[in-house]
Amino acid sequence: MPKAVEDNETDKLDPKWGEPSSMHDPYILSQFEARPTDVLITTAPKAGTTWMQQILYQLRSGGDDSFNAIDEVIPWLERPRQGRTSRDLLLEYEAIPDPRVFKTHCTYTQTPGVTVVRIILSSRDPRDCCVSFYHHVMDMTDEARERVGAPAPQSFDEYFEKWMSFGAWYRNVQSWWPYHSDPNVLWLRYEDMKNDLPHVIERILRFLGWSLTVEQRIRVLEYCSFPWMKANAHKFTRLSDMQRPIFKPGGFIRKGQIGDYKTLLSISQEKAIFDRARETLEPSCLEFLGIPL
Ligand code: A3P
Repeated sequence: MPKAVEDNETDKLDPKWGEPSSMHDPYILSQFEARPTDVLITTAPKAGTTWMQQILYQLRSGGDDSFNAIDEVIPWLERPRQGRTSRDLLLEYEAIPDPRVFKTHCTYTQTPGVTVVRIILSSRDPRDCCVSFYHHVMDMTDEARERVGAPAPQSFDEYFEKWMSFGAWYRNVQSWWPYHSDPNVLWLRYEDMKNDLPHVIERILRFLGWSLTVEQRIRVLEYCSFPWMKANAHKFTRLSDMQRPIFKPGGFIRKGQIGDYKTLLSISQEKAIFDRARETLEPSCLEFLGIPL
């Protein structure tokens, strides 16, 4: 059983678990008891996290469309929930039958059981992640914006500066790259998923040692397709703890295209994104991601 988080323990936590925020509970990370059957999906924001949640849920269930919300069946590991303590969440996680699958945006250092669990990464062209996140920010409801104190950016340029200085894409990719060929890590690219999903699904099944019947495979491919997910977008949105929508409909399943950055990024913004990638990532990583050296 996981150890309960006591108030007087919280200030003793190793800083490696990160700073607490409305999306990050370091106490959960520090106390989570990982199992070898666990699968953690880890991504930079907008790199296809929700798609990967759906793929993993469908592979685990053999194709099921009866779930209400993807976050209920594939929980976001480190996300605090109002009205539930860290301990409540740890107990809920403990009760999930194997194989458990969680989503996380943690770096390598913050990920619990990183050498025990199986890790599936999804990365995506940072230019597309940047533009996708802009729409994500703009899709927030006024009510949610007011509640979390996040006013809408006045312009794309203002947003762009914030995206660059926040740096989540760089932090995520940089922290995981040294482990990309570890035997318990499978690194996938959004672009490969777009171009040949059946092949990517085969790779995931082989990696996890899971299998599907022919009928299940057909169902899985249908439920993981963009049109199916778009038509069922209510299953993939995020609700507040009071069950109020945080985003306007359709935000998480928006356009699903490669190269949508062209609609908003200027040439100099594209250059700034790639320059920073060249400053922070190893050449082998740039090559893997298709970023010119
Ligand atoms: P766009 O905003 O470019 O459309 P995340 O889940 O990490 O927040 O990522 C969201 C992005 O993944 C969105 O990108 C969304 O449309 C895309 N996406 C979600 N499901 C998809 C699918 N089945 N096929 C292709 N793209 C998908």
